[in-house]
Amino acid sequence: MNPVKVGLLGLGTVGGGTVKVLSRNAQEIMRRAGRGIEVVHASARDLSKPRICDTSGITLTQDPFEVVNNPELQVIVELIGGTDQARELVLRAIANGKHVVTANKALIARYGNEIFAAARDKGVMVAFEAAVAGGIPIIKAIREGLAGNRIEWLAGIINGTGNFILTEMRDKGRDFADVLAEAQRLGYAEADPTFDVEGIDAAHKLTILASIAFGIPLQFDKAYTEGISRITRQDVGYAEELGYRIKHLGIARRTEEGIELRVHPTLIPHRRLIANVDGVMNAVLVKGDAVGPTLFYGAGAGAEPTASAVVADLVDVVRTLTADPENRVPHLAFQPDALSDLPILPMEKVETAYYLRMQAQDRPGVLADVTRILADQGISIEAMLQKAPANGGDDTVPVVILTHRIRERQMNEAIRRIEALGTMAGPVMRMRLEHLTR
Ligand code: HSE
Repeated sequence: MNPVKVGLLGLGTVGGGTVKVLSRNAQEIMRRAGRGIEVVHASARDLSKPRICDTSGITLTQDPFEVVNNPELQVIVELIGGTDQARELVLRAIANGKHVVTANKALIARYGNEIFAAARDKGVMVAFEAAVAGGIPIIKAIREGLAGNRIEWLAGIINGTGNFILTEMRDKGRDFADVLAEAQRLGYAEADPTFDVEGIDAAHKLTILASIAFGIPLQFDKAYTEGISRITRQDVGYAEELGYRIKHLGIARRTEEGIELRVHPTLIPHRRLIANVDGVMNAVLVKGDAVGPTLFYGAGAGAEPTASAVVADLVDVVRTLTADPENRVPHLAFQPDALSDLPILPMEKVETAYYLRMQAQDRPGVLADVTRILADQGISIEAMLQKAPANGGDDTVPVVILTHRIRERQMNEAIRRIEALGTMAGPVMRMRLEHLTR
């Protein structure tokens, strides 16, 4: 059979990796897909740039619309990132009857509902394994491998740059900015690194995971997002002292009232496997009612790990080219007319445990006031740590408190009252804490 002709939008890190992997593993890929897969047309913003792959045999252009309008192509791989032009290109490709493979998490999280509807109308596939956790086949695992389960919750380290920064801060006491610059040099960081540091990239990925885990439409605008830039080296140290690691987690949980969808720094017990996922690696913990907890680990970014997911999607598309569209795996794992309208819970309704750090005046009754406020809100203390005053006549001391689970609304009120005591130097630092056992 003739090879399937593919058009590639973007020849950067992931695009270059995809061409390399397709060519190096061509024989294995053909044995799996039943047909060869050839990139014959590709677009790049700057054609004079050096490439990590061999582009001989590929027609190159600066105009991505030339690629999506090429009638010879059956599949378009979108790797340019961003949302405006990428959305237009993907919708055009679909309108032209082409299947689409994309690594674009922002595009799927924000416009996936519209894109999948357009794809259904045209009977084409949109595959997006590379959009979440790079090379880890987590979309396939949840959508297919765990299809017998009622998924209860998932928690993931789904931004390699953020995890790299937290790991280096803990292990080497390095500065935040210095580590971020290194992640950018290594090609892990987003074009706008605030997407990594402020949790937006992780929220894009979490939005996608929650949709395929619970069968709900994509609702990126309702995800709670908090970054890692406020975490100090002291916080990292106190957490360690109390037996916890700080990880930037994306958490999605099904509750009786709705779905929790939140990205924030989180203390987790250091014994958990996921607490030991370091550097740029990603991991996703998924709890199904039948299977129990499952953990998926691997490279979340980089040229070939991400290409691994792109090529797997290409193989999937090629294998089902002739299948009746109704019989393909649904984009969001559940049949489109069976999606649920469970609400996404506002953060105030979320229940979690907490780490609190405050700089309190070192005199009788201050701690008693704090614990009374917590008790008034029904908040139970798990552990407490008070440090000696710093040398140099400072009359305040750091106090760290870990609490049991409580609604965020109660904690907000407690923090408001503690900050109003007049005995605190500065605001209370709050992080969520999860045991990840239930
Ligand atoms: N900036 C992302 C990360 C790249 O650091 O994980 C992969 O999506």
